[in-house]
Amino acid sequence: MNRQNHEIILTLPADANFVDIVRLVLYGISTKWGFSYEDIEDMKVAVAEACNNAVLHAYKGREAGRMEVKFRNTGSGIQISVKDEGSSFDYEQKERLATSLHDKDLSEIRAGGLGIYMMQALMDEVQVNTDTGTEVVLTKFLQGNEEMA
Ligand SMILES: Nc1ncnc2c1ncn2[C@@H]1O[C@H](COP(=O)(O)OP(=O)(O)OP(=O)(O)O)[C@@H](O)[C@H]1O
Ligand SMILES: [Mg+2]
Repeated sequence: MNRQNHEIILTLPADANFVDIVRLVLYGISTKWGFSYEDIEDMKVAVAEACNNAVLHAYKGREAGRMEVKFRNTGSGIQISVKDEGSSFDYEQKERLATSLHDKDLSEIRAGGLGIYMMQALMDEVQVNTDTGTEVVLTKFLQGNEEMA
């Protein structure tokens, strides 16, 4: 079966109680699409970080809203978008700060503020759109030896 451009979309309350649903769906889909156990574990952590950011930061100080999680088969891998309609942040500025992170002593790095670095370390590509709310797009490519079922 050609699964390219197959898409699964979840709309959930931006609430910590729903993040495990996202992880379960990710597990089901990425198994079906031929990802290795290691890649699935990495994706589960990265996607949970993106969802936790929507839960914790997007709707701070206002009525809790929704998050939309979209899983898309690109043919060469999976693209996972986590989107909220909350207040956004200056991703470019965070990126500039990140480039100097490895020059710092461990004690200088504040606790927290690691979610985006973790997503970058665990995924092949991370894009952040902050036009309306925040959308984090996480990409993982299938390895050559993995077969798309
Ligand atoms: N969906 C979002 N909506 C609004 N602001 C966000 C969103 N995601 C990230 N941010 C902003 O970017 C910052 C960095 O996010 P990151 O996940 O790297 O760290 P953190 O959430 O502060 O801490 P940690 O993830 O380590 O617990 C956040 O503190 C927040 O200010
Ligand atoms: Mg975070």
